[in-house]
Amino acid sequence: MKQVARQARAEGRSTGFVPTMGALHEGHLSLVRAALAETQPVIASIFVNPTQFGPNEDFQKYPRAFDSDCEKLERAGVDYLFAPDAAEIYPPGFRTWVNVEGLSDRLEGRSRPGHFRGVATVVLKLLEIVQPQKAYFGRKDAQQARVLRQMARDLRLDSEIITCPIVREADGLAMSSRNAYLSPAERRAATILFRTLDDARASIARGERDALRLTAAMRETLRTEPLAAPDYVELVDAETLEPVTRLRGACLALLAVKVGAVRLIDNMLIEENDSAVLTTL
Ligand code: PAJ
Repeated sequence: MKQVARQARAEGRSTGFVPTMGALHEGHLSLVRAALAETQPVIASIFVNPTQFGPNEDFQKYPRAFDSDCEKLERAGVDYLFAPDAAEIYPPGFRTWVNVEGLSDRLEGRSRPGHFRGVATVVLKLLEIVQPQKAYFGRKDAQQARVLRQMARDLRLDSEIITCPIVREADGLAMSSRNAYLSPAERRAATILFRTLDDARASIARGERDALRLTAAMRETLRTEPLAAPDYVELVDAETLEPVTRLRGACLALLAVKVGAVRLIDNMLIEENDSAVLTTL
């Protein structure tokens, strides 16, 4: 992989990179298409990164679909797939970790201690191997994108972090490899995440700017779904990820909800410009 990357760089080509953990869906493929539109060659990676899973999380049973993933990537037009073994990424005695402080310990980080340390470390390693001009991430994982952008800025990485829109199912559920865990009843219940954000969007469109009232209303909407147990519902500044009391500038509405035993996340970007408030679901 390093040899391919070095060669592309020597030829002055602009490499695009799409890191994934596999079990690919349209969300992942939208990143591939964004990369293909801007860069060449396009390299994807599949690596279920053990260090970003907590001890009681789903690393062992995380969906793995290597053969069909390869087909999807090939059909999409990816030039190279990098699928390393855990022992290649984490050789025995591995001791070096990347901690993006402050941004990593709230929201997902509070519920999943050490998660972003694992994410930042593996992404830095992958970027160092693949040496892309641009690396593509989904806004589905808004906090992850924010953490990685901070890492790239702090370490002055040569790779630009690009973020792409959330891809959703027809009923609004954000695509996720973990949706495969949902039973039919849970799958129906899981639309509550989108419906909660969409209600908040409508309320913002009617002029609501008070964050406490908005999050209270979101919790109320979530309560209407008996299979859903909220982990967090927050309105934060998109840059600092600190809670806000009023919507101003760019904010994120973020939620994590357990539907049955499956933990799902979703978010909505709320941007204020001079004339209007724009929400992006
Ligand atoms: P994974 O969950 O496989 O996601 C890979 C990329 O696809 C991430 O950038 C994620 O935000 C994006 N993605 C997932 N679902 C999406 C959707 N519905 N719409 C748009 N983009 C979506 O995120 C990871 O893997 C890992 O943490 C990784 C960055 C690979 C590091 O291990």
